[in-house]
Amino acid sequence: MPHTVNSASIDLTELASTAQRELDAAADEAALEAWRIAYLGRKGRLTLVLRGLGELPIEERRRRGDEANKLKDALEAALEEKRSALQRARLAAMVEVGLDVTLPGRRKRIGRLHPVTQTLRQMLSIFVGMGFSVVEGPEVELDYYNFQALRIPEDHPARDMQDTLWLETKANGAPLLLRTHTSPNQARFMEQHQPPIRIAVPGKCYRHEATDASREWMFTQIELLAVDAGISMADLKGTLFEFAKGMFGQDRKVRFRCDYFPFVEPGVDMAIDCFLCGGTGCRTCRGEGWIEVLGAGMVHPEILSNMGYDTDRYTGFAAGIGVERIALLRHGVEDIRMFYANDLRFLEQF
Ligand code: PHE
Repeated sequence: MPHTVNSASIDLTELASTAQRELDAAADEAALEAWRIAYLGRKGRLTLVLRGLGELPIEERRRRGDEANKLKDALEAALEEKRSALQRARLAAMVEVGLDVTLPGRRKRIGRLHPVTQTLRQMLSIFVGMGFSVVEGPEVELDYYNFQALRIPEDHPARDMQDTLWLETKANGAPLLLRTHTSPNQARFMEQHQPPIRIAVPGKCYRHEATDASREWMFTQIELLAVDAGISMADLKGTLFEFAKGMFGQDRKVRFRCDYFPFVEPGVDMAIDCFLCGGTGCRTCRGEGWIEVLGAGMVHPEILSNMGYDTDRYTGFAAGIGVERIALLRHGVEDIRMFYANDLRFLEQF
């Protein structure tokens, strides 16, 4: 019990001089801390004096209180002074052994996100802003989801549109492949959910083809899928127009033309007016004034009914967007293969 010490009997002059003596002797941070606890800590000697003041008669309390508080300030100041003296001594010792503390520090090399990841995230944030949720699916896929559920049967010529990398392993006898697009997630998601659906599915895709400046055998897509009562081509156009403006500037124009994908009807491709030349024709748009950026369309009603949806009530649109292509355009990179060549001189520019 701290109160067994009669604090009124502590001699402040004696306390002051012992404290100073001990402080002078303290040689390091640990000794300083021990000293602080001994005098100024919760059960420290001076703290006890201050706590005991209340039991003294008023006159005595005032006099001793005044003296004790002054001592407290003095001890605190002495502690700080000693602390910086120790610090100075430590630095001086370092300089003595040859450490120049005025030298600038060594800069740490910080990594950064890959340019394709940066673009992917920017694209997703545009879609999330429009109410889409981000979901993901497997890269190793069943023939069923990659092709059959999307109205591409085994002998269908549309299989030639996407040369496939097949796995030697099978899943219970069923052929496995590296997905050639993110569209299998349309079927995967609809199988498990009822409308309303608004999803954006990012992921890597693979195709067995020779690479060139605009084609890689591995690339990234974002699949968009919206299914609800009353979804129309106007929703498709509005959503993708917003995306084009969010990505390439508010004054962008878009152009839709008919295109064929077995899983949509009608199918379209979308182009933006060239943001570099404004449509007059330049290297980036290959003199055309327009740059194709994605494929899209209204989800084929046969797919909706295969999923058990009421096709009198529900319609939907889907789109597949190549992320590297958007990144190429955004940064003016000429060759898609640069992204995966792992050349730091290239990657460090982003
Ligand atoms: N999956 C198609 C492709 O990769 C793109 C697409 C997606 C087209 C959705 C229409 C609708 O070529």
